[in-house]
Amino acid sequence: MEDFNEKLKCKTKEAEEIIFKYLPEENGFQKSVIEAMNYSVKAGGKRLRPMLMMETSRLFGYTGRETEPFMAAIEMIHTYSLVHDDLPAMDNDMVRRGLPTTHAKFGHAMGILAGDGLLNYAFEVCARTIVKSKTMEKAVKAYQILADKAGINGMIGGQTVDVQLTNKPIDKDTLDFIYRLKTGALIEAAMMIGAVMAGASNDNIEKSRKIALAVGMAFQIQDDILDVESTTEELGKPVLSDEKNCKTTYVTLYGIEESKRIVKEYTRQALEILDGMEYSNEFLRELLISLMTRKK
Ligand code: IPE
Ligand code: IPE
Ligand code: MG
Ligand code: MG
Ligand code: MG
Repeated sequence: MEDFNEKLKCKTKEAEEIIFKYLPEENGFQKSVIEAMNYSVKAGGKRLRPMLMMETSRLFGYTGRETEPFMAAIEMIHTYSLVHDDLPAMDNDMVRRGLPTTHAKFGHAMGILAGDGLLNYAFEVCARTIVKSKTMEKAVKAYQILADKAGINGMIGGQTVDVQLTNKPIDKDTLDFIYRLKTGALIEAAMMIGAVMAGASNDNIEKSRKIALAVGMAFQIQDDILDVESTTEELGKPVLSDEKNCKTTYVTLYGIEESKRIVKEYTRQALEILDGMEYSNEFLRELLISLMTRKK
């Protein structure tokens, strides 16, 4: 366990250094939006999606560096989704990653624009790399996955239904749809892109997607649990945000204990697929297990 925590620290730092390399320089008349973009990304966070991308590529034996722009891009897209999620028109939260949310610090307009800027910059970074890529075909496929999973059939689609059904009764199937899209989709993109860039077979790309889908469900249900059980200090974002916003969550549908059991069950499903593969990555395996009991 100690050993894993040490490794996790190193890997987080590794991902962070890659992400930071791709951030835009803060100059020009439009400097203020770039400052807000970089503030949001540099604030911290677990860097889970870039880490999953890198570790999935390593699972399939990849040692090259062409995943790096995609690692930065997925963290930019994830961060933009948080910046917009926190806006007054959505969850209206004032703390994120232990700091004032982007709109709280820079104002609402800049919160919107910084989110837009991050979303667009993610694709600028990838497009620049694709043009120079030695493995153009893989990079184009990765680009397509990233675009799909971030969009109306992915994260944005999930956030739409989440917002639309706030304050309304939601059944399990609808809630699962929301979680699969708003949270699962970007985690799927992370693992699929790692597999694609490593040159994995279609079968293994699909297995990576299925692992990620289960991980994504477990991750969002754990997020619901922490919203009730944690503290703002530990979590770095406000607790009881879901209650404040009258959200139906796994906790409101099933209670804490049953939700914890479901997190374990999704994790078991993910590990079963991973363990059935002809490849292995011990750190990735431990990472998936650790998410089950994460405290932030
Ligand atoms: C928060 O994501 C939003 C959800 C999808 C639940 P994370 O818990 O990965 O947030 P950071 O990146 O660590 O801040
Ligand atoms: C949002 O879910 C997931 C996103 C796509 C941003 P939440 O609204 O529960 O995320 P947190 O709890 O604010 O991080
Ligand atoms: Mg939300
Ligand atoms: Mg929120
Ligand atoms: Mg939440």
